[in-house]
Amino acid sequence: MILQGKHIVLGVTGGIAAYKAVEVASRLVKAGAQVDVVMTPAATRFVGALTFQTVTARPVAVEMFALLRETDIAHVSLARRADLLIIAPLTANTLAKLAHGLADNLLTATVLDTHAPLLLAPAMETGMWTNPLTQDNLARLRKARDVTVVGPTEGRLASGAVGVGRMAEPVEIVDAARWVLGRAGPLRGRRVVVTAGGTREPLDPVRVLTNRSSGRMGVALAVAARDAGAEVVLIHTPGVPPAPWGANEVEVETAQEMRDAVLDAVAEADALLMAAAVADYRPLQVARQKIKKTGEPLVLTLERTPDILVEVAERRAKLPRLRAVVGFAAETERVVENARDKLRRKRLELIVANDARLAMGADTNQVTLIAADGSVEELPLLPKDEVAELVIARLAELL
Ligand code: CTP
Repeated sequence: MILQGKHIVLGVTGGIAAYKAVEVASRLVKAGAQVDVVMTPAATRFVGALTFQTVTARPVAVEMFALLRETDIAHVSLARRADLLIIAPLTANTLAKLAHGLADNLLTATVLDTHAPLLLAPAMETGMWTNPLTQDNLARLRKARDVTVVGPTEGRLASGAVGVGRMAEPVEIVDAARWVLGRAGPLRGRRVVVTAGGTREPLDPVRVLTNRSSGRMGVALAVAARDAGAEVVLIHTPGVPPAPWGANEVEVETAQEMRDAVLDAVAEADALLMAAAVADYRPLQVARQKIKKTGEPLVLTLERTPDILVEVAERRAKLPRLRAVVGFAAETERVVENARDKLRRKRLELIVANDARLAMGADTNQVTLIAADGSVEELPLLPKDEVAELVIARLAELL
């Protein structure tokens, strides 16, 4: 919801990555933002203004002295209206102009005039990016105003060479925009640890015992917490969806590794959301070589893994900053009763209970929120990202 109704100015400068800015515009529009595209004259050599106009359903501004409406001065009205100004791609030339306060076209004039935060997605040849002049320009701009930089990444450049200088992918640019817009949200200044995915317990060098968790719910919570302004630590197992831009990621595999990472992270955290499906048992012995098949049935002996939430509960007295611990209960029967029992046993502030058979691997989830004060809130069947937003809204109240 964070992009809904936001006024975003998307500046496009003259580089080959300008064609990818069309996808940035499209994603922003689909997320409900109102997007005004401002192109530099050089950008129009790479992509037509009509393309952006069609995608955004709004006029595209290029000319410095054009009028948006009879009484509007284009750069003034764009500058005032913007909640965020994104420049993607940003050339070395426009960066140099911005760093020195030049206002020689509609885009540079708008940037000079606006108080809106700036999100920059540089794209240029490696030599231009690594040139100390370019780096000085960026440092100078950062000193002067609120600037967030996404990318550039390493890859194939316009020249055919491979190196640093490729524009960040449109999804990443839009995700970074959400980070910028969410910074002042209800979880501003809070550190939230989220776990996601199913742990894997090795049996031998090539086999693991695991579960059907996709990590979608946990990552959706991390995204929602980030959108609400939290500093997020996402502790996840391999293969979960991409972490939200701006989050700190820790990849783990086993319950033991997740335990260590969680205990480390909660020392400095305000909240823990334990959405991961942690194995309760692991093979007692891990074979050093691949287990060979025989004619006999194979019997595995399993031992308990550490219960992470129980260990956190035991340490609560020494964790004064940790104000909310949220658990998840994946049940297949008596969902609410079992969840209540876990809430008490693991000394949680909130538990999110669901039917594991319906939730695992799905895009939607139907959950019941049970709080330590005894309140029970049954939510309807919703996409996981909407469930996450509601859980995060409850977390904000708890904090
Ligand atoms: N959990 C944990 N450490 C474990 C197992 C689970 O911290 N070793 C957390 C899960 O991340 C979840 C909550 O505990 O937030 C409930 O997990 P679940 O496996 O459903 O509950 P259990 O307490 O293990 O109970 P049971 O297996 O008997 O249903």
